[in-house]
Amino acid sequence: MRTTGKTNSVSPSDSDAVTHEPRPPRPTEGLTYHQPGVLRVLQTKEQTQAYYDRIALVYDLLAEHAEAPVRRAGIEMLKVRKGEKILEIGFGTGHSLVTLGESVGPTGRVFGIDLSEEMRGLSIARLKKQGLDNRVELSCGDALRLPYSSDRMHGIFMSFMLELFDTPEILVVLSECRRVLMIGGRIVVVGMSRLAPHGLMTEDFGWTRHHFPSCLDCRPILVRHALGDAGFYVAES
Ligand SMILES: C[S@@+](CC[C@H](N)C(=O)[O-])C[C@H]1O[C@@H](n2cnc3c(N)ncnc32)[C@H](O)[C@@H]1O
Repeated sequence: MRTTGKTNSVSPSDSDAVTHEPRPPRPTEGLTYHQPGVLRVLQTKEQTQAYYDRIALVYDLLAEHAEAPVRRAGIEMLKVRKGEKILEIGFGTGHSLVTLGESVGPTGRVFGIDLSEEMRGLSIARLKKQGLDNRVELSCGDALRLPYSSDRMHGIFMSFMLELFDTPEILVVLSECRRVLMIGGRIVVVGMSRLAPHGLMTEDFGWTRHHFPSCLDCRPILVRHALGDAGFYVAES
């Protein structure tokens, strides 16, 4: 799904893309955003982090076969150009970071944020192996509070990530994306949609999540609706 949030363009400056200034937490309690038929998420952030730390080493064995082709198609939709600044949220084991790093070239920059320190370690190793670590900057943290200054990114990519957030939080994450995207910026969200023609993957997740809500941390959501609700113009899906 490719969307454009804003319409003009501005010149970015490289040095101030990442802010280390403390920002007030964004409270999610009391938020009422709701998606009809979409299950709520029960896990705490600490549980999510511990889960991904635990499975980091085997994540590719579990997911790469099913997810890689969809993820690659999503990156193509982002149409990354040389010299751009691109953020990936929830980069996992770092496959997309490699593609994004190659696409921005030596004059561009890729930023990544992920809750799991283990995933970050694996990604750094992968980037070093490819000689791309000097153009990619990875943080460990929660995407509910992006540690980047406003209007700095040309593009944002996330795959199999938005459906991990509880429904009210989805809007918080997307509004953070709008904040850090520069005018004319693009976002691509790859994820399981409740409205997609039902494939095995979506059905399996929906069923497992319904019957074993505390075992699985994600579920199909209304991706396109969420982007529209957050104020993005949806250009492609
Ligand atoms: C299902 S994996 C997908 C990984 C990768 N995007 C891919 O497509 O292979 C979800 C990733 O999001 C990270 N994650 C989960 N909750 C997060 C949060 N609140 N903020 C940042 N990252 C988060 C996890 O640690 C994990 O690496």
